[in-house]
Amino acid sequence: MRYTSSEKIYFPTLGTKSIPTRARSHQNMLLTIPTNSARVYEMKTASKARYRFRIRRATSRDLRYLVHHRRAMWEDMGVGTEKELDEGDRVYRGWARARMKSGELVGWVVENSEREVVGGGIVWLRPAPPKPDNKATVRPYLLSMYTERDFRRMGVASLIVKEAVKWCKQHGQPSLLLHASKKGRELYRKFGFKRTWEMKLGL
Ligand SMILES: CC(C)(COP(=O)(O)OP(=O)(O)OC[C@H]1O[C@@H](n2cnc3c(N)ncnc32)[C@H](O)[C@@H]1OP(=O)(O)O)[C@@H](O)C(=O)NCCC(=O)NCCS
Repeated sequence: MRYTSSEKIYFPTLGTKSIPTRARSHQNMLLTIPTNSARVYEMKTASKARYRFRIRRATSRDLRYLVHHRRAMWEDMGVGTEKELDEGDRVYRGWARARMKSGELVGWVVENSEREVVGGGIVWLRPAPPKPDNKATVRPYLLSMYTERDFRRMGVASLIVKEAVKWCKQHGQPSLLLHASKKGRELYRKFGFKRTWEMKLGL
């Protein structure tokens, strides 16, 4: 998304800024955390086995994982035929690639000690109109959360949620939205997410 020089965009962290015509997308201004920063966590599961997980920011080289996570999430939820999922992969890849490039999308992947990607999730800075209590013109939205079956209930998704929440706070965002799948509900509740009054009309 590009803005002309006459437009003013408001960020909680930056105040009101005029964006030069040639400027990067406004969300790029938010991306100040180095993409290669990674943290290592050791998890103790109920079976007392120890697993080492490493969380890092996703780059364009991780697109195949992000696409896989998105597809596997739908499959897990029983949404879409094989054909729809294949087509969905193609469309999502283009959508995610463009937004990663513009800075509208921030993703994380979690690796195990063998450096295999075992889970991931993304925050999309969804364009939104300013409100009296939130003048920002983006609302962060957490999506495509997925953990490989063999690595569930070991805290992998929790690492992503923690990182996403931290990122949003660091960038002055007052809230983080998401739409929870059945399996995701308890995970998000644990972090304090609450149900909202969003309504929908099928057309
Ligand atoms: C939902 C999902 C991402 C959770 O991943 P995970 O890595 O297993 O989650 P965590 O280990 O961090 O779970 C943290 C807490 O969330 C809750 N939780 C996670 N999965 C749960 C489930 N299936 N049922 C009930 N509570 C669950 C638990 O309280 C858990 O803590 P505990 O294991 O100490 O009890 C994973 O099950 C998944 O990929 N599901 C399919 C895709 C999907 O539904 N994605 C969410 C889209 S919104």
